[in-house]
Amino acid sequence: MKVLIVGSGGREHAIAWSIRKTNSENLQIYVAPGNAGTLPFATNVNIQITQIKELTTFAKENKIDLTIVGSETPLDLGIVDIFRMNNLKIFGPSKKASQIESSKEFAKNIMNKANVPTADSITFDSYEESIKFLSGKTPPFVIKANGLAAGKGVTIATSHEEAAEALDNCLNKQIFGESGKTVLIEEFLEGKELSIFSFTDGYYVSPLVAACDYKRIYDNDLGPNTGGMGGYSPPHTFDSSLNQEINSTIITPTIHQMAENNTPFSGILYGGLILTNQGPKVIEYNCRFGDPEAEILLPLLDSNLFEICQAGAENSLNHSEIRWSTNSSVGIVLTSKGYPNEYETEKIISIGNIKDNCTIFHNGTNIDEENNLISSGGRVLTIVSTNNTIENARKDAYDAIKSVDFIDSHFRTDIAKSTDR
Ligand code: AMP
Ligand code: GLY
Repeated sequence: MKVLIVGSGGREHAIAWSIRKTNSENLQIYVAPGNAGTLPFATNVNIQITQIKELTTFAKENKIDLTIVGSETPLDLGIVDIFRMNNLKIFGPSKKASQIESSKEFAKNIMNKANVPTADSITFDSYEESIKFLSGKTPPFVIKANGLAAGKGVTIATSHEEAAEALDNCLNKQIFGESGKTVLIEEFLEGKELSIFSFTDGYYVSPLVAACDYKRIYDNDLGPNTGGMGGYSPPHTFDSSLNQEINSTIITPTIHQMAENNTPFSGILYGGLILTNQGPKVIEYNCRFGDPEAEILLPLLDSNLFEICQAGAENSLNHSEIRWSTNSSVGIVLTSKGYPNEYETEKIISIGNIKDNCTIFHNGTNIDEENNLISSGGRVLTIVSTNNTIENARKDAYDAIKSVDFIDSHFRTDIAKSTDR
């Protein structure tokens, strides 16, 4: 059997790692394009995630049995539809279903039809109208580009001036291109944040798992937003009653509404939630695993990820065993100097011995001509540890960082430190 994983980050390394762990060598793993972390146990294929035609040809010629898509970019380009047209089995949502992430307007429509609690919002494509709407209202204001904006499309404006700048950037200056031609002004929600994940084949919804992530670059949530600086699972608030409430009021109704809408969602649904005084509400949906959430959660998966994704692609997920460990997991991201702005690359990295309950996932690495491991991205490594408690996992993860030699790298020292998030 052969599996192809599409992507080059820590999420795709974690998917490949999880599949390797639970399958024999008879299952050949390909990663396109992969990174230095996938190289030792998988075959890296030199095709980028946007080269859908080349990926299709590769999968056909190499008789790939199953393709798993890591990132939203190829999903939005319609990789699932194109693979299916070519009779290639693939796990992930269709282009239309992935609009749950690529169009915030689409996601709101689905949630409103299904009575799923979400932040109230209004859509604008005129700068003047949007400014008129805000006049007389009290900040903070949440301004969101409607489309994909590489995690940079959301502004929490604490003043009218800041809101006007964000609206001007989207609607007049069009810094996000098409993605920002429409914006949503959303109600600001207060409460703890939670990320929820579920495997689904469009009808069956697997048991939910949750994680907390840390988006700001510096300790105490200071500095600019990043793709994610680390996180942990399970969040302290995520007990079985909250799990059930989120499943019955949010995740399952959303999946059913997607099917009713003739855009059934098969893949991994990622809900970004805020636990408000009136209960959990959705602030966004993503159509794929999170990064670094995949690195944090997949070490807790006790079942066979290849079989789960295969069943998801065949609409038979209800027959699959999807069990999660009751252990805790903590992940810490190491970044290059300068990230999330312009950053350094090609720094040599060396990794010493780490404990068996720790794993180092590669987000942005490469091998140079002298066979050195080098950095090639802003986020470079994610150090993950699982243990019986968050505190023990946290201690092991921070200890494991000491075995990594990577000059000028940066990491947060407060991941999973406080129990109040
Ligand atoms: P996103 O880029 O969609 O992940 O949003 C970035 C961050 O903005 C989220 O992690 C939240 O902390 C915050 N956020 C987004 N929407 C809201 C909202 N309606 N109310 C409060 N905070 C929000
Ligand atoms: N960790 C945030 C994301 O994957 O979108």
